[in-house]
Amino acid sequence: MIVCRTKEEVYALINESTRLKQVLGLVPTMGSLHEGHLSLISEALRHNDIVWVTIFVNPTQFDNKKDLSNYPKNLENDIQLIKKISDNINVFHPSETEIYDGKPFLKKYDFNHLDLELEGKFRADHFNGVATIVSKLFELFKPSNAYFGEKDFQQTQIINRLIDIEKINLNMIICPTIREENGLALSSRNKLLSVKNKDKSSIIYKNLIFLQKSFIKNRNKLNLEKIKSEINFMNDFKIEYLEIVNNKSLQIELKFRENESYRAFICVNVNGVRLIDNILLN
Ligand code: PAJ
Repeated sequence: MIVCRTKEEVYALINESTRLKQVLGLVPTMGSLHEGHLSLISEALRHNDIVWVTIFVNPTQFDNKKDLSNYPKNLENDIQLIKKISDNINVFHPSETEIYDGKPFLKKYDFNHLDLELEGKFRADHFNGVATIVSKLFELFKPSNAYFGEKDFQQTQIINRLIDIEKINLNMIICPTIREENGLALSSRNKLLSVKNKDKSSIIYKNLIFLQKSFIKNRNKLNLEKIKSEINFMNDFKIEYLEIVNNKSLQIELKFRENESYRAFICVNVNGVRLIDNILLN
């Protein structure tokens, strides 16, 4: 395993990979790795000769300075975790100046409204920031395959659109959400929860499963307000959104249509820690 800090080092290794006709898989992350990230890396190892994991906390996708400074970092531990998996993995951990060729900047995209729904209503320009950095990584590595988690489903749809807009030739693979035993989706931010609140956060997935069952039974009799008040009633828990939207457009529809797919999205702010999750309903 090689850890690179500069693009020059990456170019040299990639040129060698190209010479050997190796298939390259990319797993972009912000580090503080957990089993969710590791599942993406393992999936990438199954289908590629060489896997690159990038570790970079991208400032342009944070609209909140406190959220950025609180974001957990643990590079040594990340490297140890990756080393244990395989030798066929390299890590790119650039500085801000290195990856942005100077000061970080934000590129604005036309995402057909996808960026304005759900998370977009609460985090201005978040998805422009994600797309800016992911586009840079795609350009640098030119991977055959890139791996992202269903946990951030809206992000996967944004990246799909980015691939279309920039006519990037790659295969995006969406991997299933890995969860704690109590159902809470793994996230680097879970480290910031108290033990008690982490335990109580099982209510999020429980309600998603409940919604999925209710949707299958009778999609016209769902009571989102009841779930919202149940969660808001808990100490330290505040719902930011709970919405059922079209799986493709990510927009709310007045009436569910028979041949369309729908997905429930939730974000709960637990004492300052934003927990997001989603589930496909049909
Ligand atoms: P990060 O939050 O570190 O997540 C990196 C990748 O891991 C994303 O594709 C995310 O969806 C996936 N992931 C996170 N938790 C998961 C879980 N419990 N199960 C399965 N996959 C999970 O997402 C980002 O970083 C950034 O926005 C990034 C794409 C790297 C751009 O900066």
